[in-house]
Amino acid sequence: MRGRAGIMAEGMIQLDDFSDEEIIQLLDDAAALQDVARGERVTRPLEGRILANVFFEPSTRTRMSFEAAMKRLGGSVINMAELSSTSIAKGETLHDTIRVLDGYADIIVLRHPREGAARFADDLSIRPIINAGDGAGRHPTQTLLDLSTIRSSHGTLDVQIALVGDLRYGRTAHSLAKAMSRFGASIMLCNPKGLSMPDEVLQDLRNDGTTVKTYDTLDHVIANADVLYMTRIQRERFPDEDEYSRVAGSFRLTQADLDSAREGMIVLHPLPRVDEIDANVDGTEHAQYFEQAFHGVSTRMAILCHLLSVKGVNK
Ligand code: CP
Repeated sequence: MRGRAGIMAEGMIQLDDFSDEEIIQLLDDAAALQDVARGERVTRPLEGRILANVFFEPSTRTRMSFEAAMKRLGGSVINMAELSSTSIAKGETLHDTIRVLDGYADIIVLRHPREGAARFADDLSIRPIINAGDGAGRHPTQTLLDLSTIRSSHGTLDVQIALVGDLRYGRTAHSLAKAMSRFGASIMLCNPKGLSMPDEVLQDLRNDGTTVKTYDTLDHVIANADVLYMTRIQRERFPDEDEYSRVAGSFRLTQADLDSAREGMIVLHPLPRVDEIDANVDGTEHAQYFEQAFHGVSTRMAILCHLLSVKGVNK
């Protein structure tokens, strides 16, 4: 049972709460909504519905693609502006903010620096809460759009994926590793010293029977991956700047590195990138990170329709 006083509010806090069948259905719906996401077909099943974007941390893609998704489907969006211009600056709690927004919107998208904040909000809200990132915890809608991109390129999720970069603090890497493991992928890990995947995530992968191997350099993973998933070092989550300086710039992918890549191998990145992918990779056949960001719109359309109980959107 979720939501205040037993009122059901089916949100999206982590993909573990969704069955494999539900995830595949969401991916199918997202694929069918791509023409709507591009503006080539008009359908307005969310007319009259309001989405509240509540972001306590910076965002470009997640916030704006939710806004684009809602508006493409005929709905409206209210945005919590700069925190300094809201009552958060006067000391209002997350609890009270969510209780108030319950009365203003039909669905709430929440990004918060504290792990567990989205679950907390979901437990007290009568509206569906979508976790748009909770600290170093989960980012399920990013994972779904990553799955959409991989399935669209390879036709399957049963691939060899390499996760590269900050695997300790990178919530997208945690969620994606667990999701790919559910669908039969093999996983290669490549991270700077001290930034390895948390033990609890590794344990979950092993419990699923997933093959997980760790490498110190990029050479092997580039030559053997179907999907090369690069991630940013999460500077904002480091306890001190010296620690960050020691690992900054550890892995940098260039066009020349891709000479050994398999045909059809795709390079993904949740973005924003800092210096993990050189700009000369952008023009290669492997670069799919901007396409991946586009998948955010159709995938989030499918999520909104699912959580707001709109049927038949994939016709
Ligand atoms: N990938 C992602 O979450 O991007 P934003 O931080 O810009 O939302």
